[in-house]
Amino acid sequence: MIPSIKSVIITEDQIQHKIRLLADQILHDFSDGPLVILSVLKGSFIFHADLVRALAMDIEVGFISLSSYRGATNSQGEINHIELPLPDLKDKNVLLLEDIYDTGASMAYAYELCKKEQPKILKTCVLLIKKGAKRIVETPIDYYGFSIPNLFVVGYGLDYQERYRQLPFIAEPYLKEN
Ligand code: IMP
Ligand code: MG
Repeated sequence: MIPSIKSVIITEDQIQHKIRLLADQILHDFSDGPLVILSVLKGSFIFHADLVRALAMDIEVGFISLSSYRGATNSQGEINHIELPLPDLKDKNVLLLEDIYDTGASMAYAYELCKKEQPKILKTCVLLIKKGAKRIVETPIDYYGFSIPNLFVVGYGLDYQERYRQLPFIAEPYLKEN
């Protein structure tokens, strides 16, 4: 059984509508050629799968596996990187996808990793930006889906203790510490 949730923050329809808008923007901006879409595991896996299927263009996919050393719901800013083979990024157009921009530590780590490979263009896309979150480090965000309050959320790839990732919407969970 899927654990129960407190409230839905962003519905499935709102997410799917936003995916189409993001895809239109990305298609427009990268009309000049192939695009490598790299996403940060595990949280971005559903966002990645939906976005690439909305993009009628030449695409290569890749994944970066990061986890932050977290308390139950807050990031400590230290990153654990499990190395996976990266696609060749040199002189390519690259779009880096993340599920959520919270402290910014994961995005900054992934961004530097990509930059070292000398892509032609490197742009960033996050589904959610937490408004008012304490940023440890800032990375320019070129595309985003939704700006949300500074809450811990789950669903659409995001977990609480590895659960809830399969929900097709974004929700606030009941947390054990509540
Ligand atoms: P950062 O603090 O911006 O580095 O975010 C680190 C990672 O923590 C994100 O990629 C997410 O996987 C996870 N994360 C941050 N905020 C939340 C949340 O509200 N729910 C679930 N995971 C989160
Ligand atoms: Mg993540």
